[in-house]
Amino acid sequence: MSDKNSQHSSRAGVGVVVVAAGSGQRLGQGIPKARVLCGGRTLLEHSLDAVLASGVATAVVVVLPAGDAVLSSVVARAAAQAAAHTAEDAAGAVVEIMEVTGGATRTASVRAGLDALPPSVAVVLVHDAARALTPPAVFQRVAAAVAAGAPAVVPVLPVVDTVKVVVGDVVTATPDRASLRAVQTPQGFDADALRAVHASSHAEDPAVTDDARLMEVHGRAVHVVEGDALAFKVTTPLDLVIAEAVLAQAPVLGVSPTT
Ligand code: C5P
Repeated sequence: MSDKNSQHSSRAGVGVVVVAAGSGQRLGQGIPKARVLCGGRTLLEHSLDAVLASGVATAVVVVLPAGDAVLSSVVARAAAQAAAHTAEDAAGAVVEIMEVTGGATRTASVRAGLDALPPSVAVVLVHDAARALTPPAVFQRVAAAVAAGAPAVVPVLPVVDTVKVVVGDVVTATPDRASLRAVQTPQGFDADALRAVHASSHAEDPAVTDDARLMEVHGRAVHVVEGDALAFKVTTPLDLVIAEAVLAQAPVLGVSPTT
């Protein structure tokens, strides 16, 4: 990793921002996506299980749609479970879990989450609640790479399809597939660097669809670690069918019983 100038100063701790304030229109269930059930539990519950099972977080901020009592109670239950777990295990780190209301765009929701994190965190992971089956190991890989000095880290997978650039209905280019990667979450960042780019005017650009892009436009190196096919984003009804099937086959696929 070449860009290792970031210092995490004397602060410690990893904050995880789970963005769950999207409307889920493309899923077509008429409720926020994070509230959609998969294997009998909400997508948000699956996501929070993975965050907590990873053991990387010292603070978790869940960004919710305004006034969503169902999702609020999911966060409250997770907070109570984390507190009980801490009480049982005196050596365990305290995981603080809280909720905030999101914004009109994903970027605005991430910023709301960032603002609510304790200033003591040195590393921030931003995770889409919609990537409900992300294995805990992906959180661990991303957090470890940021702790090792990378200012920005994204989990990636090779691209299996040939990808075309299209203008109107005409193909204008075919990028070399070998150099392409599909990007997932959690994305990990040096906390100061992420706060700085979110305070810039680029954060208002609708073309910026993830935090790693914000780091790129500010010239910061974004490093990659291995993603996982199970970290796919539940976006369409087909994705939900696949997620249900994955949960039904969890032992065969080696998916943790917590998810
Ligand atoms: O819309 P998209 O699939 O890109 O959303 C990715 C994640 O960002 C989802 O978990 C969604 O809940 C979240 N999001 C949000 N606030 C928005 C839009 C999306 O928290 N305004």
